[in-house]
Amino acid sequence: MQRVFAMAAFVILLFFSFQIEGSWRADGKGLSIWDKFAHTPLRVGDSDNGDIACDSYNKIDEDIEVLKKLKVTHYRFSVSWSRVLPDGTTNNINEAGLNYYHRLVDGLKAANIQPQITLYHWDLPLELQKVGGWLNETVVQRFRDYADVLFSRLGSKVKFWITLNEPYIVANLGYGYGTFAPGIFNKQYTAAHNLIKAHAEAWHLYNDTYRATQDGLISITINSDWAEPRNPHKQEDVDAAMRYLQFFIGWFAHPIFKGDYPEIMKSIIRRRSLAAGLPQSRLPEFTPEEISRIKGTHDYFGLNHYTTVLASPYDLGNQQDYEGDRGTRQTHDRTWIGSGSFWLKITPFGFRRLLKFIKEEYGNPAIYVTENGISERGVVDLNDVFRIYYYENYINQGLKARVLDEVNLKAYTAWSLMDNFEWAAGFAEQFGLFFVNRSDPDLPRIPKNSALRYATIINCNGFPD
Ligand code: NOJ
Repeated sequence: MQRVFAMAAFVILLFFSFQIEGSWRADGKGLSIWDKFAHTPLRVGDSDNGDIACDSYNKIDEDIEVLKKLKVTHYRFSVSWSRVLPDGTTNNINEAGLNYYHRLVDGLKAANIQPQITLYHWDLPLELQKVGGWLNETVVQRFRDYADVLFSRLGSKVKFWITLNEPYIVANLGYGYGTFAPGIFNKQYTAAHNLIKAHAEAWHLYNDTYRATQDGLISITINSDWAEPRNPHKQEDVDAAMRYLQFFIGWFAHPIFKGDYPEIMKSIIRRRSLAAGLPQSRLPEFTPEEISRIKGTHDYFGLNHYTTVLASPYDLGNQQDYEGDRGTRQTHDRTWIGSGSFWLKITPFGFRRLLKFIKEEYGNPAIYVTENGISERGVVDLNDVFRIYYYENYINQGLKARVLDEVNLKAYTAWSLMDNFEWAAGFAEQFGLFFVNRSDPDLPRIPKNSALRYATIINCNGFPD
């Protein structure tokens, strides 16, 4: 297949506040759940934290220079809620914090790079966590208020919004397995319920109040692996793969695109809850009013995708949690090439299959890939051939999906511009196109070969001839 393809409006670069900004207490910023989590012993690898991160709070100009070198058209970043609203509410708007985002947006626009803003990338204001965080339904209104501040203050300059980044991770790792902030166990269905409602409220606010004058796009970024049946000839593996997908992407995409949780989630969780003697399903229900409020709250399908798993059944008996409900064992094929992250194997074929699945399942939406990339661990080799291999092959599969499968793929975003704070893994897992030398106090950004290759792909508007 010829690999050349017009990539207009196709290549974007991104990264996100907590992972890069640092300045965790500067200029009136309030604390977030990740500030607290990272300062709690044994939560983050090597006792790393985000206090300084990549110091992007003080390096706007330098970061924009790096973006200019890559010739990207867009730049995705998130706003730190507690930098703008230190206690999470509009009782106190921190103008200095807001000013940082103004300067960043203005600098990007002057460089002809369009800003794409994520409202929430996991760093909930700590004060809101004190009253339950995503488990307390009042967070829905707090999130709407916060969105209102950003739309009204930045909306005339920003045309692309993402409400939530990866609600699956917020719910499952933050409130299910407890491995991410705030470190709570087995409450993921409740957290997810409020996340979905919060997203819907922010979407409606934009749609009703700001769209007419600001004319931007707003949606949510949902992450998902692709699940391949371990043995495609075994029906139980095929079913396990489908359960994996429905409990992953369907958990969030079904309510937003179709109105309610996937049938398979509703029936399995209900059956297992009742069998355990509980009075009702552990999966909360949306009321008919909520269903009509949530359904259709999307202007595009935002997708973060990295890898594929092999699925087979997993019977955990009566275990009353997400794993037990999903009943799917996830493994990797031993021939798949790995990365610096245990969960991330190089499996480009899964990208195309997932894109096609989204097209078919969710009514052929415009898809914006808002993250895709690969990590390494340990000493960084600036000649990162495996990353070049990853990007070329994933982009190629994206192009095949678009050209051959007629998936409405609109954009592709690499993760990440530079090595940064990789959550519970600290700085050990490095996803950057640019290496950040942490032993130099200036934290210089040094291009890896993948950065040069990525710039070439952008420059050629596709793969070079
Ligand atoms: C998903 C997240 O949005 C981002 O914060 C993270 O660093 C990457 N994936 C890599 O794990």
